[in-house]
Amino acid sequence: MNRNNYIEANKDRFLNELIELLKIPSVSADSSFAKDTLKAADYVKEALIKAGVDLAEVIPTKGYPVVYAEKMVDASLPTILVYGHYDVQPATPYELWTTPPFEPAIRDGKIYARGACDDKGQMYMHVKAFEAMVQSDTLACNVKFMIEGEEEVGSSNLGPFCIENRERLKADVVLISDTSMIANDTPSIDVGLRGLSYVEVEVTGPNRDLHSGVYGGAVANPINILAEMIASLHDENKHITVEGFYDNVLETSQEDRDAMAKTPFDLDEFKKDLGINEVWGEKGFSTMERTGIRPTLDVNGIWGGYIGEGAKTVLPSKAYAKISMRLVPNQTGEEITEKFMKHFEKIAPAGVTVKVTPHHGGNPVLTPTDSVEFRAAAKAMETTFGKTPIPTRGGGSIPIVALFEKELGLKSVLFGFGLDSDALHSPNEHYGLFNFYKGIETIPYFFQYYAEMKKA
Ligand code: BES
Ligand code: MN
Ligand code: MN
Repeated sequence: MNRNNYIEANKDRFLNELIELLKIPSVSADSSFAKDTLKAADYVKEALIKAGVDLAEVIPTKGYPVVYAEKMVDASLPTILVYGHYDVQPATPYELWTTPPFEPAIRDGKIYARGACDDKGQMYMHVKAFEAMVQSDTLACNVKFMIEGEEEVGSSNLGPFCIENRERLKADVVLISDTSMIANDTPSIDVGLRGLSYVEVEVTGPNRDLHSGVYGGAVANPINILAEMIASLHDENKHITVEGFYDNVLETSQEDRDAMAKTPFDLDEFKKDLGINEVWGEKGFSTMERTGIRPTLDVNGIWGGYIGEGAKTVLPSKAYAKISMRLVPNQTGEEITEKFMKHFEKIAPAGVTVKVTPHHGGNPVLTPTDSVEFRAAAKAMETTFGKTPIPTRGGGSIPIVALFEKELGLKSVLFGFGLDSDALHSPNEHYGLFNFYKGIETIPYFFQYYAEMKKA
């Protein structure tokens, strides 16, 4: 059967299979979901077998396993390594969801569930696109699947996995659907991702919680101090004050900034969607530049002292915060973590001590637009959307992408079909059925054009 007819004839089944996967609460960050996370790995493996791979395995790591599968059609054809993740972000607070996060529901042409877009929905497009290519006898490349279960917690075991399995992971290019496009009528392809440095800080004052009347005013309050320290991390122009923070930032050329300025972006719509009356950010840069080409520093959580019911008059012993820094080329995770630690220790006033604990990190990536893989991806989208995709910079991070390049020498194509408005990591995450099917339809053209262009 013709491939597009096959997709059309099997669309409902494709969606039902995705719904079954979305019902599994594979939250990697929360160990109470460990069993379900493993169950999701098995589900993906079984789905790949049914879709027609030659072999599929759930390979253990120190953390959650990697699902690996392959179909080698012909050694003379290029090999595409498809990467995705079966783990999802925590879905708390549940009460903010219109329908429960692990009971997928379809409303207004969208499927609502945790992981609907990030990344189960996008990853599953590849499984079904692959099935459609096998069934229509149009599989133009060898294919390997590497679907991991720790992306949302930093992929710390995947780097070692790649090194140990270098032979097995040999490929020509990595294909990833885990990013967004501008709009359903404005296709785009991310050519950059930001890196990440994530740290936790602890500020300690007195050796115990104190009576805030008996001691207040005479002893440094770690929460007050932490608030001051955090406030000092940006200056009046919203520049980050960490010493040396911008040393390695690659300035974007005026030409690239001009091109970015032409990308469709509706500031009013942006504000309306978020319920804010003004945007915020580094002086001299547009909103799109602030998320695309500039680094950031944000507190993700802050706590300490008494937060229970009513009032307790206490001067706390400790205060804490979790801080993320998004990085751009050529900053690195290690470099920025080190600079942050030094700076934060330096600005701590007498009367408190500070401890900085690094969490996960990752390096930024920037991919060329004149490569075979980018051209094949652009042509594939052109074929199915009827429009040339616009190169864009994604603000989020997929730490493993930089490692693919470093450890496996592989470039990645960020072939995302989601939208920023899909509420990734938020309550009511969803994925458009249009996007799900469009992805399934478009992916095989990438295989076809990539094989053709590689040969030429
Ligand atoms: N799929 C996202 C990353 C993303 C989303 C990139 C949209 C570009 C556009 C990924 O699952 C994610 O959330 N990554 C984390 C990385 C972290 C947990 C190490 C992130 O960006 O916070
Ligand atoms: Mn993701
Ligand atoms: Mn995510």
